[in-house]
Amino acid sequence: MSDFIDLRSDTVTKPTAEMRKAMAGAEVGDDVYGEDPTVNALQEKVAKVLGKEASIYVASGTMANQLAIKSHTQPGDELIMEATSHPYNFEGGGIAAISGVQAYCLQGIRGILEASQIESAVRPQDHHYPLTRLICIENTHNRGGGSIYPLKKMEEIYRFAKSKGLLVHLDGARLWNASVATGIKPHEYAEHADSVSVCISKGLGAPVGSLVAGTKAFIDRVHRFRKMVGGGMRQAGILAAAGIYALDHHFDRLKEDHENAKRLALGLREIKGISINPDHVETNILIFGVAQTGMPSIELRDAMKKEGVLMNALGGQQIRLVTHLDVTREDIDKALVAFRKVILKK
Ligand SMILES: Cc1ncc(COP(=O)(O)O)c(C=O)c1O
Repeated sequence: MSDFIDLRSDTVTKPTAEMRKAMAGAEVGDDVYGEDPTVNALQEKVAKVLGKEASIYVASGTMANQLAIKSHTQPGDELIMEATSHPYNFEGGGIAAISGVQAYCLQGIRGILEASQIESAVRPQDHHYPLTRLICIENTHNRGGGSIYPLKKMEEIYRFAKSKGLLVHLDGARLWNASVATGIKPHEYAEHADSVSVCISKGLGAPVGSLVAGTKAFIDRVHRFRKMVGGGMRQAGILAAAGIYALDHHFDRLKEDHENAKRLALGLREIKGISINPDHVETNILIFGVAQTGMPSIELRDAMKKEGVLMNALGGQQIRLVTHLDVTREDIDKALVAFRKVILKK
């Protein structure tokens, strides 16, 4: 796939030469004994960046969310989540299979919920009902098109949660993007959640891994469940080194991905049949309608592949594009040329 302009996801990035050097030189140990100095350094660094007592390195964003949910809940509990959220839709039914919990899903606007909506979803204290335990929110919101949770809405949700004795988990796989786009520090967002998962293998460009952050007691529970699902990774410092490198060198450059996404959105808006609002492109994800092009999204995806551009079709009439470290401004312009060619030929 290396000759393609790959706009399917920001997970497709390859480690840079400098990142590989950092990985090759990493000091390692057995992390299951807590003896990998590079894993420990990454965990300390991420806990600090998020303003939490502790964090733990895990294999993926899915594992991070699922272990956090497991650690917060008991079987039979209910979670309040947004209907298009990642942990509900794209983690293999893990909340039911791993935690034995059920979801009360609410429809947000581009993934964003209001505290008042959540308030109406909390179950009454009555034995007929499940126990509402946890609220999950996602910042940025993947299916919302990389939308940013306004800090004020997070504050309101957290204040409400605390008034009801509920917990809040933040799926912050792309919290870095929200932070770079708004200038609000990751810890200022994280302050409004009891636990946070963050990913180093998306926009930041590390090859593997996510972290969960929270109180020491909570991370101790996550650690136990990480062991239970076979997530202890031994000399994982080789991987953690890429995460440290990514945080130090690839954080600020996320701005370029956002500029490229906006450039792409502005170009797409000019193509007949594409429906996109560039104002809704806040970070590195674009989701747009193609119904009026006369091509189902799968046909468009396949035709674009022949022009050297990879992308994901969502349902029959939408396309998702994601900008990242391995996509340049020139690639964006080439992708726009390909879009024009494919759609106007139709
Ligand atoms: C918002 C969000 N959370 C969690 C994940 C899961 O991450 P992973 O693919 O590392 O399991 C993703 C993946 O794209 C995501 O977009």
